[in-house]
Amino acid sequence: MSLLSVEGLRTHFISRDIDNRVRVAHALNDVSFSIDRGRILGIVGETGAGKSLTAQSVTGLLRPPARVVGGKAVFDGRELTAMSDDELNTVRGAEIAMVVQNPRTSLDPLTRVGDQLVRTHQVHSGGPVATSRQRALEMMEAVGIPDPRSRARAWPHELSGGMAQRILIAMALMNAPKLLIADEPTTGLDVTVQAQILDLLRDLVARLDMATLLITHDLGVVAHFCDEIAVMFAGAIVERGPVREVFRNPAHPYTAGLIAATPERLRSGERSVQFGGPPPDLYNLPKGCHYRPRCPFAGAACHAAPPELETTPGHRALCHFAGAFDRAQEPAE
Ligand SMILES: Nc1ncnc2c1ncn2[C@@H]1O[C@H](COP(=O)(O)OP(=O)(O)OP(=O)(O)O)[C@@H](O)[C@H]1O
Ligand SMILES: [Mg+2]
Repeated sequence: MSLLSVEGLRTHFISRDIDNRVRVAHALNDVSFSIDRGRILGIVGETGAGKSLTAQSVTGLLRPPARVVGGKAVFDGRELTAMSDDELNTVRGAEIAMVVQNPRTSLDPLTRVGDQLVRTHQVHSGGPVATSRQRALEMMEAVGIPDPRSRARAWPHELSGGMAQRILIAMALMNAPKLLIADEPTTGLDVTVQAQILDLLRDLVARLDMATLLITHDLGVVAHFCDEIAVMFAGAIVERGPVREVFRNPAHPYTAGLIAATPERLRSGERSVQFGGPPPDLYNLPKGCHYRPRCPFAGAACHAAPPELETTPGHRALCHFAGAFDRAQEPAE
């Protein structure tokens, strides 16, 4: 059984307009994926696709007017989406840890970094402080911080961006979580530092047997660091499967377009599949397939909602023509 399995998750923003009419933004429409221990799943998709919202919906960090209205997330046999805030608080931080984008705003500027690590451990373990201190030094070492004893006394503003991000990862690991969720953990860092941190992350995942959800807009990062990929469009996972398989045989036209538009492919002179366009209006999604207005292959069948089809074992796409979308416009026999 997977450590985390998310099935048909739907999240809406419910508000009222100036005439007091209810307005619903369909932000997550059908999110299904699973992660096993020791594996890294990369979630990719354009801005506004719902990647961060997925992490927040799964971990109970949504704020009104956002609300999970359907589906469920099951973690280690327990349904997260049915837990009280207290239960979620206990699970978060201890069993599920998060690393978010901006290390500067995630660290407390008024506390030395070592003390922040100790505090994170104390909140959940409650054991002797000396044990927490020892663990803090170990974790700083594990994330490649040189001379942990003296760095532990540093203030956050004394750290470079890369070091601050390492501290955040160390903090996420303090309580030996089973699941790590990293939302754009290296955005804004230079390419070399980014690669170092992702290498480190991959190492730790294997060593600690964690399951990891890595959110990124960078397909190159997924290709190099993830085992599985989930591609999001308009609040739905439109394709998922093993990384090599999906990159070699994209089954959904959106994924094919994304891959064709990566800088390496464009440089090699490969013809890019046209796939850009405005993001769909979440208040008024197109009928049937939500990708239809932007899909260069869309045919008549695409006015109906697509099923999720499995093309090879574990490789699925939300498309009437999964794996054969270039034939969608051919007349049926
Ligand atoms: N209060 C709100 N009311 C309606 N829609 C909202 C509200 N807040 C956010 N959204 C929408 O929710 C969608 C999902 O946003 P989310 O932050 O998950 O995107 P993302 O995939 O993480 O994008 P990025 O790559 O930019 O981080 C967006 O399209 C956004 O417009
Ligand atoms: Mg985001």
